[in-house]
This record gives sequence, structure tokens and C-alpha cells, in this order.
Amino acid sequence: MRDLGIIEDGAVLISGGKIVTVGTTDEVAKHELLTSKPSHIEEIDCRGKVVLPGFVDSHTHPVFTAPRLIDFEKRTAGASYEEIAAAGGGIRASLRGVRDSSREKLAEHVRTAFDDMAVLGTTTVEAKSGYGLSFAAEMKSLEAIREASHQWAGTVVPTLLGAHVVAPEYRDDPEEYVRIICEDMIPAAAKLKLAAFVDVFCERGAFTMEQSRQILRSAVEHNLGVRAHVCQLTPEKLTPLIEFHPASLDHMDFVSDEDISALARLDTVVTLLPAANYFLGLKAFPPARRLIDSGVAVALATDYNPGTAPTPSMPFVLSAACTHMKMSPAEAIVAATYNGACALRLQGRKGSLEPGKDADIAIFDASDHRELAYWFGVNRCRETFLNGVRQTAARINL
Ligand code: NIG
Ligand code: FE
Repeated sequence: MRDLGIIEDGAVLISGGKIVTVGTTDEVAKHELLTSKPSHIEEIDCRGKVVLPGFVDSHTHPVFTAPRLIDFEKRTAGASYEEIAAAGGGIRASLRGVRDSSREKLAEHVRTAFDDMAVLGTTTVEAKSGYGLSFAAEMKSLEAIREASHQWAGTVVPTLLGAHVVAPEYRDDPEEYVRIICEDMIPAAAKLKLAAFVDVFCERGAFTMEQSRQILRSAVEHNLGVRAHVCQLTPEKLTPLIEFHPASLDHMDFVSDEDISALARLDTVVTLLPAANYFLGLKAFPPARRLIDSGVAVALATDYNPGTAPTPSMPFVLSAACTHMKMSPAEAIVAATYNGACALRLQGRKGSLEPGKDADIAIFDASDHRELAYWFGVNRCRETFLNGVRQTAARINL
């Protein structure tokens, strides 16, 4: 994770949405596409800039309609995340807006979030449902993600998170809600190809380990990928989840040393989400050093959501990871690009600048890669290429 393979005076040649070749400017200039048909070539001068693979934001919850300002204000007055949720705030407070909105309206919100992300250098986004909490509202949420993804040049990976919390109607019968997820939501999402993954919030106040296992088992039976929110607020033993070969386990603030050793032998990625710790005002941050030093593949993502991480900014996440988790700037960049791609099982197409991969590129006004994690509260991304489609700062109103 410390080796970025930096090419000084580098160049990237892209064509038809794919990377054709990467190397020094001299090497790339010799490519036959450039020597044979020079009139079709557009050159972008990146001298003095950092050119990166676009960020892969592998954990976001963009399907909501309104910020949770009451929760926010309560927290500034000292209430904790769990106290606010128990008092009727939290995830369930976002439910009404989603249930009452049309698919088009939701898609508009999601599309706005994707645009905000692209401005900051993100070109691939994993997007979860999870604020509808009924069959109809979860399907509508996934359809909104699909609609927004058709309007956006970047790549979107949809995830069903019907198992975010138990829907209020089933508070006294959570098993029935789990049954609806397993027997209705997952089969429909798989059949309609509305989701690539199923996620579950395995946590006190959300779903127990046994319920989480039921849900993930159904996901595997329907050939969907598996990921989980776990060890965010309380410790949890991970062996019962690992059995389902999760692509990623996310948050992991309370992971044990024993589970870290087990994870180091697997290709499951651990996705850390420090924007949530920042926004909840927590003193402790996810244990990046213990994980990386033990050989676990660590990714970084925003967790973009209205309750714990209302930020579309991967550069902010890089800053938090370096400042509060002692990741090096190079490690943070790898975690936000290649390892994020691994967390979505897209490393063959995304996450690095290599011939044959999708032309997902972010160009920063910085002369050293360490500046990406150094500046915060300012956007240094000037241009992005999303599957080869160019978005300049002017076009996105910076
Ligand atoms: O990843 N932990 C569960 N889900 C979100 C929070 C969702 C919310 O509060 O709206 C998270 O932090
Ligand atoms: Fe999350």
C-alpha cells in the first residue's frame, strides 16, 4: 500500500472509454494511435498536476431526501447516536421522506450526490438502499439508484440494504421483517438485477448475528455478493460472517486482534469510514494501523449518509485517515482507489491506471500526491474522466 508506482512526467492515453497505455510522456507519445491518426487526438496538459485513478467510493447511502438536522442539533447538545435513534431519530427518521417520494424525485437526489462526488474526484460509487424499509420502498430506492446511474457518466454498484434497521411496523416481530428481506426483497432484487450486493447492519439495535446470517445466506443463494456493517458501535465476533465470503466488512472500529489475524488470510477487504467517527464527534477512529500492519487489505470510503456522514468527499476521508488513523498519504490513496475497487470486486476494471482498464481519472491541482491528504476543506480536483467522459471544473460550476 505504500508503493503508488508514481510516474514522473507521466502520460495516459485513453480511447473509447478505456485506458490504452500509460507511461512517461515520451513513451506514450510513441504509441501507434498517436503516430498514425494524430488529428483525432485531444491533448490535456497536466504539467504540475497529480493524475490519479478516480476514487472508488465503495460505501455510500445516497437514497434519502433530507438532512437530519434535529439529530444533528441534539448531538451538538451531547446526545449519542444510539440515544438519538432510540428517541425516534436515526435511520427511521429518514424513512418517511423516502416512502413518500416518487422514484424520479429520489433519483434526482441520488444523481445530485453522484455529481457532488465526481467534482471531488470520485468516478465509481457503491450506492445502498436502506431508508425505505418496506418491499416497495426498497425496490423504489434501488430503481432510483439505477435511474441516477443511467444519468451519470461514472460507474455505480447498487446494494440492497433492506436490513438497515427493522422497519417500525415490525418492531415487535423482527423475524417477520427478516423473512420479508430474505423471501421478498432479495429474490426480487436479484431477479430484476437491481442489486449486485446485499448488505446488513449487524449491530445492537439493528440486526443480530443470527438474523444477519439468515439474510446473507439468502443473498448467496440468489447469487448476490455479500458485505456487512459490523463492529461499528460494539464488538462482534466475525467468524459467523466470514463463512459467506463477504467482499467487504465495513466500519470495524471494534474488531478484535483474533479476527484481524483471520482476515489477513482472506481476500475480504475491511472498509474504514472515518467521516462517520468525525461527524459523530467520537474520540476513537477505526484501527487502520493494526489492520494494515497485520496484512489486511484496507479500503477507505465516505459512508455518505444523512445520519453519520453527510459528506461526498473522498479527499476529506484521506485527510481524516492520515491525521487520525496514522495512515500514510500513499496508503490512503491506495485504500481510496485500488482497494476500494477490490471491495467491490471490480479490481479488473477500476482503481488503477493500467492499459485495458476503464478510463476513470481524476486530475488535481497539486504537485505532490501527499497534498491530496494534506489540504482539507478545499477541493483541488480540477477535472475528472468518468469512463472516458470528461468533466471539467467549468462544467461542474466550480
Ligand atoms: O454506516 N450504520 C449504519 N448505517 C449508517 C448510518 C445511517 C444513518 O444514521 O442514517 C452508517 O453509519
Ligand atoms: Fe454505512
